[in-house]
Amino acid sequence: MASRNYALLLMFFTFLTITSMAVYANNYFQHFDITWGEGRGKIVNNGELLTLSLDNYSGSGFQSKNQYLFGKIDMQLKLVPGNSAGTVTAYYLSSEGSSHDEIDFEFLGNLTGEPYTIHTNVYTQGKGEREQQFHLWFDPTADFHTFSVLWNPQTIVFSVDNTPIREFKNLGNLGVPFPKSQPMKLYSSIWNADQWATRGGLIKTDWSQAPFVASYRNFNANACTVSVNGSPGPCHTGKSDFGPWMSQNLDRNGEERLKWVQKNYMIYNYCTDTKRFPDGFPKECNA
Ligand SMILES: *[C@@H]1O[C@H](CO)[C@@H](O)[C@H](O)[C@H]1NC(C)=O
Ligand SMILES: *[C@@H]1O[C@H](CO)[C@@H](O)[C@H](O)[C@H]1NC(C)=O
Repeated sequence: MASRNYALLLMFFTFLTITSMAVYANNYFQHFDITWGEGRGKIVNNGELLTLSLDNYSGSGFQSKNQYLFGKIDMQLKLVPGNSAGTVTAYYLSSEGSSHDEIDFEFLGNLTGEPYTIHTNVYTQGKGEREQQFHLWFDPTADFHTFSVLWNPQTIVFSVDNTPIREFKNLGNLGVPFPKSQPMKLYSSIWNADQWATRGGLIKTDWSQAPFVASYRNFNANACTVSVNGSPGPCHTGKSDFGPWMSQNLDRNGEERLKWVQKNYMIYNYCTDTKRFPDGFPKECNA
């Protein structure tokens, strides 16, 4: 009896191992749908790599099959190399409807050798206007780098290669809405935005450089998924119900890294834009 239970247990653990490994193999077929672009978005290498491309006819995009309500979501991106001026690659979580929540990364291309701009925003209940922009301490087109969102009931942290670049804390106690009940899907797309993207629209897309290609690999979601009818599904941590991400906050080292990025690489912060908010900054800016 005991040995039979042991065999069952072994089988169970073998099964668990396989499912958590499956997060890495074939994961793009399993987790995403290419939603537009007529063949410009592709899942290749047995599902290990996804590419989106943009040419003078169209961009392309994909979205997750799952909806998430809290999670730690990592994706490795390699951005459009060379002259990417005028192109925008967006990578974001969003719920639906007019009072939607959204957590955004947008990568604004540039001339060869000039820095990409990482644009971030947080929408709560349909309202955004919380832009922060950064340059990076490396060339994001030379290789893959990990862009992550930690989203739990206490905080939202944007990270690049595990270095936090932005935090949006839950300040519900001060009356600042926080995304905590609307499940979000993960989206990404590439499109032409040369009216505004590069140096405020001064530099246009050079179509002779097309197609512009962004690549994605090693998607990893330690997240709570929500089924289509809206009921909470399991939290896929690979181990137990919730991973440590559910209660994670920035530790001291994280705080220090965040300060380092904000001091050296932040190029725009809505919380210091007095022209835009002459009557005082949004509440979260003073917290
Ligand atoms: C798109 O680019 C191709 C190749 O450079 C060119 O032949 C074609 O005319 C362009 N089409 C449009 C709609 O601009
Ligand atoms: C492009 O490069 C210029 C010059 O270095 C820089 O000011 C700008 O922030 C960069 N990014 C974009 C998207 O314009």
